[in-house]
Amino acid sequence: MAKNIIIYYSRKGQNYWNGGIKNIAKGNTEIVAEFIQTAVGGDLFEVETVKEYDADYYKCIDEAQDELREGARPELKKYLDNIDEYDNVFVCGPCWWGTYPMAVFTQLEKLDFTGKKVIAVMTHEGSGLGSSERDLKKLCTGATFGKGLSVHGADAAGSESTVAAWAKKQA
Ligand SMILES: Cc1cc2nc3c(=O)[nH]c(=O)nc-3n(C[C@H](O)[C@H](O)[C@H](O)COP(=O)(O)O)c2cc1C
Repeated sequence: MAKNIIIYYSRKGQNYWNGGIKNIAKGNTEIVAEFIQTAVGGDLFEVETVKEYDADYYKCIDEAQDELREGARPELKKYLDNIDEYDNVFVCGPCWWGTYPMAVFTQLEKLDFTGKKVIAVMTHEGSGLGSSERDLKKLCTGATFGKGLSVHGADAAGSESTVAAWAKKQA
C-alpha cells in the first residue's frame, strides 16, 4: 500500500476570513491536512518557524511580503530529514502572496523527491492554487505530480467530503 506524508504549514490566530479579520483556534490548512490524513492515512508533518510571525494579521502580511521579495528561507523548529519511506507527498499551505509561505520552501529544499508523487494543496481567500503547482514542479526534481486542490479557507471546516473524495483519487 502506498504511504503518504502530509506536510503542512498553517497559521492560528488572526487571519483573513470572508472579507474580514477573524481569530481562528485552528488554521484552515491544518483542518484540511487532517481531513487528508483521515481519508487516506499517513503521517502529518507541521512546518513551524523559529521566529513567530506577528500576531497582527496586517503586520504578518507585510512580513510575508518582505520574505517573498527576499526569497527568504526562515529557520524551522524541526526538519523532516528525508521522505524515503513515503510514496505520496501532499504539500499543504495557505496562499501567502500567491504561493506557499517561504517556510514551506525551507523544508522542501532539504528533500529528495526522486520517484515521489507530489500533490499541491492550498487554502486561500480568492487566489486558488496560485502558483503552488508551478512552484512545486520547479522544485521537486524527479517527481510526478497529482492534481492539486484549492480550498476556500473560510469553508475549510465544511470541506471534509470534497477533500476526502479528491484525496482518495490522488493516493
Ligand atoms: C501573510 C498572508 C498572505 C496572504 N495572501 C493571500 C493571497 O495572496 N491570496 C489569497 O487568496 N489569500 C491570501 N491570504 C489568506 C490565506 O491564504 C487564507 O486565509 C488561508 O486559508 C489561511 O490558512 P491558514 O489558516 O492555514 O494559515 C493570506 C494570508 C496571510 C496571513
